[in-house]
Order: sequence, then C-alpha cells, then structure tokens
Amino acid sequence: MRKKIVAGNWKMNGTYTDSLNLFNSLRSSENEFPQNVEVMVAPPYLYLHDLLKIGSSKIKVISQNCSSKSKGAFTGEISVSMLRSISIDCSIVGHSERRIIYGESISDISEKVKQLLSENMQVVFCVGEQLEERKSDNHFKVINEQLISIYSVDPSLFSKIIVAYEPVWAIGTGETASPEQAQEMHAFIRSKLREVYANAADQTRILYGGSVKPDNAAELFSQADVDGGLVGGAALQATDFIKIIQAAG
Ligand code: 13P
Repeated sequence: MRKKIVAGNWKMNGTYTDSLNLFNSLRSSENEFPQNVEVMVAPPYLYLHDLLKIGSSKIKVISQNCSSKSKGAFTGEISVSMLRSISIDCSIVGHSERRIIYGESISDISEKVKQLLSENMQVVFCVGEQLEERKSDNHFKVINEQLISIYSVDPSLFSKIIVAYEPVWAIGTGETASPEQAQEMHAFIRSKLREVYANAADQTRILYGGSVKPDNAAELFSQADVDGGLVGGAALQATDFIKIIQAAG
C-alpha cells in the first residue's frame, strides 16, 4: 500500500510574512490531516530555513530546485549540500517551468538527480508533456524520454524517487487532466519504471499535478496509480490546500 503524498509548490509567490502566515495556518490545522497522507510544502529558497525552524511534525519542508553543480563559481545557484546543511532532505527537480522557461535539458536534470541522490536526498522528479505533444499523440514518447533521467538511478537508491506527472497544458490553466487521462499516464509511467526497477516500481509514488483543486482532488486521487498531488495555485490558500490534503485521506 503506497502512502499518498500531497505537496504544495509555492513557486515564486508570497512575501516572507505571507509564507510564515501560510505555514502557520497549515500547522494550526495539522491535527486534522489524515494519518495516511504525507504533506510537503516547497517554499521559495529564501524562506526554507525559517520555516524549518518553526517546524512541524506533519509538514515536511522541501526545496523547489537545486543546482546541477556541487560547488564553485555559479552565481545565484544553491547546491544540494547547502540544502542538506540546513536539514532539507528533499527537492523537486525537472519542473516544466525549469525545463521550458529556464531551458533545463534532460542532462541538466539527470545531473540534479545525481547530486540529490549523492546526498541521500529524496527527489520529486517532474515530467509532463506540452499541449502540442498531446495533440500530436506524442505524449507517451515525450514522458518516456523525460524519464531517462531516472532510468539510470542505482536500484538501491530508487526508493528515494517520487515521480510527479504534470501535463504542462494543465498547469495554472484551470484545465485539469481528466481522472482517466491521469490514470492512463500514471499507469504508463509505472509500467516503464517496472521494466527497469521490477518490484520497486510498485512502491513508487506517482503524483498528479496541474490545476488540482478541492473539487477535483478526491476523484483524481481515487485512481489506482495516482498517489497524491503536486499542487501549485491551490496550495497558496491554506483552506484549499487543507481540503486537498483531506481528499487524499
Ligand atoms: P497549478 O496547481 O497551479 O496548476 O500548478 C501545478 C504545478 O505546477 C505544481 O508544481
């Protein structure tokens, strides 16, 4: 039985005070979170340390990104060992906004995965096709190519990988993949992982992301291969995010 995960990706939103308030609102309701759901939030880098210091026994604070390099003259970058040094042990990588807006290639993302695993970190590894790729029926091919970054992970470390399927056309658009579309792709991803990681693939959590809201979360999360969600916009409102967490229970 895979434990569901609901993760909030705050992206580049909110002031310091907004982020503290949001985190404190979530903490004040954490006793209402279902026992069988892991909750994560990914605030901007700048707020990670203070949210960790506030702390929560139910909400894990994770990073939105990390550098593909280990250290040195890379102005503006944050390395995995820096994250580790403030007790962060999980990061998102390969988000479509990083791939598309910042031009991160499959090999950049593979390097980030390697960096994270070298520090024994958990990885929320994102994949997702663009609208034209779905319309031209290339979505399975595209996702399979993106999965290359985790096909070479040492099997002993594969339990550190969480996959997030986020169709680009559903991110921030209000258009959600139907539960059937999500299930179809999640089952495909799991079948591809099974080819490489045999039994481990059945333990891998595969999250859905893309306009998850309180009113569609329960149906999405009820699909056999949907193990929770990676939530953007609706994670910025404590009441909505809490409803989504409860929908996973
Ligand atoms: P939205 O929930 O705003 O569509 O964003 C999804 C996402 O990109 C989470 O990483």
